[in-house]
Amino acid sequence: MMSLAWPLFRTTEQAALAAWPQIGCGDKNKIDGLAVSSMRQSLNNMPIRGRIVIGEGEIDHAPMLWIGEEVGQGCGPRVDIAVDPIEGTRMVAMGQNNALAVMAFAPAGSLLHAPDMYMKKLVVNRLAKGAIDLHLPLVDNLRNVAQALDKPLDKLRLVTLDKPRMRATIDEATALGVKVFALPDGDVAASVMTCLRDNQYDVMYTLGGAPEGVISACAVAALGGDMQAELIDFCQAKGESEENHRIAASERLRCEAMGVIINRVYSLGELVAGEDVIFSATGVTGGDLVNGIQQVTDGVRTQTLLIGGADRTCNIIDSLHSW
Ligand code: FBP
Repeated sequence: MMSLAWPLFRTTEQAALAAWPQIGCGDKNKIDGLAVSSMRQSLNNMPIRGRIVIGEGEIDHAPMLWIGEEVGQGCGPRVDIAVDPIEGTRMVAMGQNNALAVMAFAPAGSLLHAPDMYMKKLVVNRLAKGAIDLHLPLVDNLRNVAQALDKPLDKLRLVTLDKPRMRATIDEATALGVKVFALPDGDVAASVMTCLRDNQYDVMYTLGGAPEGVISACAVAALGGDMQAELIDFCQAKGESEENHRIAASERLRCEAMGVIINRVYSLGELVAGEDVIFSATGVTGGDLVNGIQQVTDGVRTQTLLIGGADRTCNIIDSLHSW
């Protein structure tokens, strides 16, 4: 995989640059479409036999990079691709922080096939590897992680998403004394920040998108961290209603077709087999993980985090692009 690190990095960089002029335009689809077109073009110029395993849709709905889509020049290594052209389209549309263009490559057959539905995710860094178990309540996991990190609970930092469905979790954790950081959006960045060496957080726990979960798993595996995840249906995430039951029924069919099971705990090794993974995230709007795109004299500056699992490298790449 490592020979593809440079083209992968250029792909997320170009996608971020394509979306950047539209920061604050208010139109999520327009922003996504620009990033998707740029990524598709970059992927089709690569000497790979690539397949989108984690994408945005499950049928050919241009401009999505849809699950099952074949990309690349049709020669070279077979690659599973997990993509979120813009992780945080709402943030780009509204001119808010923490939006990224994200993609990961793994050897063919190594990524879990997951539809676009909700997923419960628990992530820790390498020092707490083996200390998590999603079968247990969150409180037990927080206690076990604190013990593994040799920290009192009031020094443990939990990052989650600030969504109504996470309210009870936030209350439960703060009642234990745990410090909670609730981000408006973006659990990929939260997962990566949990696993980096100078980590800002000790635990990431949330109910967010399944595609974002598998993409995060690529970074977590490459960084030597640990993760468990569980697909959950729409009613569990959003509450019961006739419409939500209809969505949950269609999710069940999609899961059956993809061979994955709702409410089963998946280990990191089942989300992504092995560590020969490369992950790239370029900042679109400014954030804690990487800087957003900045206008400079005669050009723009981008920042990308490129992680390689096989050689355990973690590069932060600043690029200057002239007009
Ligand atoms: P996208 O912009 O890629 O849709 O995701 C942003 C995000 O915050 C993810 O990080 C998270 O997993 C998901 O949305 C949560 O979904 P929802 O917006 O439905 O709460």
